Amino acid sequence: MSQARRRLIAGNWKMNGTGESTAAFMAALHRAIGGGDGPRCEILLCPPATLIAAAADAAAGGSVVIGGQDCHHAAGGAKTGDLAAEMIADAGGGYVIVGHSERRADHGESDAVVRAKAEAAHRAGLIAIVCVGESAAERDAGSTLEVIAGQIAGSIPDGGTALNTVVAYEPVWAIGSGRTPTTAEIAAVHNHIRGGLAGRFADGDGFRILYGGSVKPANAAELLAIADVDGALVGGASLAAEDFFAIIDSCP
Ligand code: PGA
Repeated sequence: MSQARRRLIAGNWKMNGTGESTAAFMAALHRAIGGGDGPRCEILLCPPATLIAAAADAAAGGSVVIGGQDCHHAAGGAKTGDLAAEMIADAGGGYVIVGHSERRADHGESDAVVRAKAEAAHRAGLIAIVCVGESAAERDAGSTLEVIAGQIAGSIPDGGTALNTVVAYEPVWAIGSGRTPTTAEIAAVHNHIRGGLAGRFADGDGFRILYGGSVKPANAAELLAIADVDGALVGGASLAAEDFFAIIDSCP
């Protein structure tokens, strides 16, 4: 694994968390990480927008990076309720998740919209985590690799590089369900994504490809050992600091 592909463990709190829970979580996570050589992997936490600044303050000087869960493609203007990538950067964020399947489903986000959001992230100096994943019906129909290739082609901007873009493979049916694909199935998808990135981008071998969907302390070591799995995007199990740290500690 190249130096550029340092494993990334990213927590996605979704619509959960308060100022109080964030302070307690960050304190517990810092205690767990401790001193010494620091964690073996990069650690990212994506709380809801209201908590980005507080989490970034609590993370300052440590080994945890903070990010957003979504951004608008515009840099500012009359967009009630939306958040510009520049605002996430201003609040202390370094990353933003775009194209999560809950955004694609609940807000009708197409690949083109996701691509514009990733471009906005790059414009603001953020690293975009671009999410892709097949539905249960698509997997049953045998079209997983085709669906993922289409999402990758449509959602990652031409300006994507290994330094400004991370891919997250999250089968929609695995999110929050307690079910995961087999290690062989995950390996096949990640290998396919790697091939597509390497064919399109000069540094495609250096992009990190995360797996997401029911990553837990009990399965993290097995999932993180799969070839071309360069980290995890963790939902439910990122809400408790001890579970999140157990996943971080499972990094090879
Ligand atoms: P989960 O969510 O870990 O709760 O399955 C993952 C995600 O949606 O990013």
